[in-house]
Amino acid sequence: MPDTQLDLLGSLQRSQMCGTLRASDAGKTVTLMGWVNRRRDLGNLIFVDLRDRTGLVQIVIDKESNPALHEKASRVRSEYVLAIVGNVKKRDDSTINKNVPTGEVEIIAHELRVLNDSKTPPFAPSDQAIGNEEVRLKYRYIDMRRPEMQANIELRSKVSLAIRKELSSHGFLEIETPFMTRSTPEGARDYLVPSRVYPGSFYALPQSPQLFKQILMISGFDKYFQIVRCFRDEDLRADRQPEFTQVDLETSFPTQDRVFEVVEAFLVAAFREAGIELKPPFPRMKYDDAIRKYGIDKPDMRLPEITDVREVFTEENLNALSLDPLLPVVAVRIPKVGELSRKERDDNKQLVASKPGVKVIDDLKRLEKSFPDAVTKLRATVEADADDLLVIVAGAPTEERTGLAMRKAAEAVYTSAGAMRLALTQKYKDKHGAFNKTGTANDYRFLWVTDFPMFEYDDKDGRWNAAHHPFTSPHEEDFGKLLSDPGAVRALAYDIVLNGTELGSGSIRIHRQDIQKQIFNALGMTDEEARSRFGFFLEALEYGTPPHGGIALGLDRIIMILAGADSLREVIPFPKTAKAVDLMVDAPTPVSATQLKELGIAVKG
Ligand code: AMO
Repeated sequence: MPDTQLDLLGSLQRSQMCGTLRASDAGKTVTLMGWVNRRRDLGNLIFVDLRDRTGLVQIVIDKESNPALHEKASRVRSEYVLAIVGNVKKRDDSTINKNVPTGEVEIIAHELRVLNDSKTPPFAPSDQAIGNEEVRLKYRYIDMRRPEMQANIELRSKVSLAIRKELSSHGFLEIETPFMTRSTPEGARDYLVPSRVYPGSFYALPQSPQLFKQILMISGFDKYFQIVRCFRDEDLRADRQPEFTQVDLETSFPTQDRVFEVVEAFLVAAFREAGIELKPPFPRMKYDDAIRKYGIDKPDMRLPEITDVREVFTEENLNALSLDPLLPVVAVRIPKVGELSRKERDDNKQLVASKPGVKVIDDLKRLEKSFPDAVTKLRATVEADADDLLVIVAGAPTEERTGLAMRKAAEAVYTSAGAMRLALTQKYKDKHGAFNKTGTANDYRFLWVTDFPMFEYDDKDGRWNAAHHPFTSPHEEDFGKLLSDPGAVRALAYDIVLNGTELGSGSIRIHRQDIQKQIFNALGMTDEEARSRFGFFLEALEYGTPPHGGIALGLDRIIMILAGADSLREVIPFPKTAKAVDLMVDAPTPVSATQLKELGIAVKG
């Protein structure tokens, strides 16, 4: 670092932000503060691009009119922190820079204070693409000086504020719930916090405020919300972080429709901050239909559905193809892909992990030779153009023919087709042009998915698990099937989906003890087990619990989509890597032996 004489800020005050200066400011004397984005030395003239949160503006230091200032400016380097006092001058037409909003003006400096110097940064905030994300995360403070990050974080702040205002205008109160608590039932692993006072006992960081918000309903706070951090120790992906933020809400005496209206209202307000006008109400689709039409519970509505083509085949056709006539036969159509080579078809088969019993037919020409009528009908049914890619997904005959086995086999066909649809869409996105991960501009297809199944069967443990969480209310008409046919019980649970991403999920809750008990029974939990896990909550339910329900949306995911980013890390100031590490502060780290001893913890191996 050059030996720089630093100046004091003294009583100097910023008059304006750099990025806000326009031709109409010409003639003004301004005081600006910011970082040196770039310095160009042309001998008699030094140009400094001074940058702050709002953008940058060109400062001119002229040797002839001020040699001392020029000498000082010759010593500043990138990322030094400066205060500049100068006059705003409109530039000649020939020197206007159309690439920046302040490009019509420059500042003729008559005072320059070097408030701080800087080491040469590992990358410049003005660099377009910084390939190494680890370096970005280690030097996050520099990374966040980049205009893209500044815009994302500003958007995040504005969206949170808009959501708060909207919910507050609907009578919701923002209420905080504890971070040091006990395990919550969201299905991931907990982050634990050891207690010093009670060695061997741990607090858990909340996976969500689920039980607290329900207890707030019992306490009479009938409209609660919170923009709240949640913690989950789970396998990370681009759209998952170990700590993330939810827009969490709960209301008493709700209908599903009322929850949807409130969410739509705050999403309208949030998207407006990014200049996007949404048009609620959003369409709705039952879970069963989503699976049948898209093979997934979070359908991307920008692409063609998968089509049921069972009827185009005769029973003999299916037998000849070794397909089960009682299982679905569906076609996936990806527009404009054109003809594929054998090798490409083989590669495509590998895109999706094959499920046992699911068969994929991707050589339509060969199929046509043996079954010309079926293929003609097939093309007509799916309304395929000549250059559309068609893949058929069906099921091999299953040995087990119980209702549950057939339901699972059918679901495997649909979900394989759904996975194939997404993988092929992604692979050929340049050809069909209808899809990118976060949404083509202004094509934000929201969808409410409703009527989720109440339970999921866990083959490994041979038991039923709650698909959402065990406090979700079943449909009243399905109460009778709780023990006799748990797989057929629908829940009053819903998700909000945008362009194939699950933004949020919620449910109407159980408010009655008797039904809660039945659910625990259906889950194979004894009264004692239920009491030991959720005893405090079950007790609270007995003291006049109103009907209630709510939802939580992932704020990071909303911002990611609004920012057009492809990872949550782009919209979280201090994120963790995919391996759950904070590279800047270097966490997690081992702690001292003294700390461990105080906590009564011994680390093995
Ligand atoms: P759920 O577990 O579905 O529901 O979470 C709701 C939403 O939170 C977001 N989300 C995440 N975002 C980033 N990283 C993660 N690891 C992560 N996990 C979840 C998603 C998801 O849709 N208590 C219930 C809600 C309720 O019933 O009211 C709950 O937490 O966008």
